[in-house]
Amino acid sequence: MNTYDAIITRRSIRSYESTPVPEELLDKVVSAGLYAPSGVNLQPWFVVAVKSSEEMDRVRGIVGEAAEKFRPFLTERFKNNPEVAESTIAFLKTLGGAPACILIFRYKPDYGESEEAVSISIGAAIENMLVAARALGLGSICLTGPVKDCSAKMNEIYAPDKGRLTAIIPVGYPAEEPTAPARKAGRSITV
Ligand SMILES: Cc1cc2nc3c(=O)[nH]c(=O)nc-3n(C[C@H](O)[C@H](O)[C@H](O)COP(=O)(O)O)c2cc1C
Repeated sequence: MNTYDAIITRRSIRSYESTPVPEELLDKVVSAGLYAPSGVNLQPWFVVAVKSSEEMDRVRGIVGEAAEKFRPFLTERFKNNPEVAESTIAFLKTLGGAPACILIFRYKPDYGESEEAVSISIGAAIENMLVAARALGLGSICLTGPVKDCSAKMNEIYAPDKGRLTAIIPVGYPAEEPTAPARKAGRSITV
């Protein structure tokens, strides 16, 4: 698959096969993130790849607890579609059955650089990993919803003194082929 096709056909995957992700593919996905551009070459990230079933159970437990804390927000946000709130919580508790995931931390709290430089760099690393996963036949999704409610525990366990959790990226072979949500009109012009 060429790069353009991987970018355009990448979708957020919320249901995964239980088939393990080969370690070399997971390593490639992580490398793609580490090779992202970054402002002033800060490389302002710390990446933890989780693949053992014991650690995945632990991650699911932590995210599941966060999902419960997140429930009041989701219930309010989707008050006209309560099934969306419930399916989101169910997804977070299982991470869609993903056999692996990647945790991405912001390495230092303060870089003395613009906030944009740091957050865009981390976003670039995340997008590189999502696109690489697609190119390697894997599915993935970037999750930030539960981060606020689980970052303390994730930091303590997986990245003491290495920043704060920014996103959780389940990875695995997709068990669904979602269609692309419609892209909003009027969001680009050429002059
Ligand atoms: C920064 C960021 C945070 C996201 N957080 C969540 C999340 O917490 N839960 C979720 O189900 N999807 C999350 N998503 C996935 C988006 O819902 C998804 O990208 C969007 O609906 C477009 O669909 P697509 O990725 O298939 O193109 C997130 C995506 C991004 C880029």
